Amino acid sequence: MAAEQTRQTPTKGLEETMTEPTGQTTVLYTRNGFAGPMATMVREQYPPQYTRVVGDYAPRILDLHALDEQAFDDVRSLPVSVLEGPGLRMEVSYRKQDSVFGLRNVFADEVHVVLAGSATLETEFGVLRVAKDDLVLIPRATTYRFVDVKDELREYILASETELSFAMQPGLGPLERFETPAPYADPSIRRGEFETVVRHGNEFTSIFTDYDPLPTVSTEGTPLVTKVNINDLRSIGMESGLLLPPLLFDDATTQTFIFDLSARSGSRPPVHYNADYDECILFMEGPGSWGAVNTPGLITHTPKGLAHQGPVENVPEGYRAILIETRCKLKVTAAGRDISHLAETDQYSRHPSESQLA
Ligand SMILES: [Fe+2]
Repeated sequence: MAAEQTRQTPTKGLEETMTEPTGQTTVLYTRNGFAGPMATMVREQYPPQYTRVVGDYAPRILDLHALDEQAFDDVRSLPVSVLEGPGLRMEVSYRKQDSVFGLRNVFADEVHVVLAGSATLETEFGVLRVAKDDLVLIPRATTYRFVDVKDELREYILASETELSFAMQPGLGPLERFETPAPYADPSIRRGEFETVVRHGNEFTSIFTDYDPLPTVSTEGTPLVTKVNINDLRSIGMESGLLLPPLLFDDATTQTFIFDLSARSGSRPPVHYNADYDECILFMEGPGSWGAVNTPGLITHTPKGLAHQGPVENVPEGYRAILIETRCKLKVTAAGRDISHLAETDQYSRHPSESQLA
């Protein structure tokens, strides 16, 4: 294994790698994700390799399609948290029926990633059809609901108390197109009792009205609800000089970022430690594989400070994936533990010592 590791040196730059014939591994230590100081260590060891873990702080692979479906049978069921920490939650929703209330998260911006199915997303800013491989930003204090649900709408939802913004514009960069909500076909007032569930942190309050609070006649100003399909991003290889993956959703506080980490030409990442960021990679679509990961809906979690490398991204068959980086100290929840396995951090397959995981 070690003989095939790539080596990087600060003088050659991140894009240039070489096989180290002696079996040594160059390990990259980074502060502040892609933005801070970096240092390298040439080592005889291969630091991602470990024999077993006792405790809870460990790299995992979670299967977002493996939650107990009965948890979502109730039409009032809410998304289930699988990874969370202060100010950030990663949740999963399986929706078989249309929403019976509007949802309004007043403390967090939400990015919804559609894993399966389709639906119409109604918001106060208009309506959007959403389907598999769509990513939708719903800023806080925006009421929304899903109607015309087809084929069970499955979503991964990232809810961030720090502000997230869409970071791309169509043009010469990766983005070919994006969508904002269309006006309501019929915005006339609808009478009847309607419920809006206000989410404030981990608590919920229902506000009832005798009119439908969703439809809007027209909107102006900055488009805030934004949808992009992961397949509408061009691949920009590292030989272009763009070494960092394209940023999809930005956070001015640097707390949480979402990048496009789909297949691209260039060198395999070096062994590295993220000193300040937890790292999650959500595999969305093949046909190619990202190392051992080839099933849509698998998400890896590598807690900050643990050595890892990760597979080659230069996969000719192509695959689609996103990278979530966060300063948040994520912990797996009980529901998340039920759908997770201990991961090795070379190719991200199941670690053989899985039974040792606390
Ligand atoms: Fe990494």
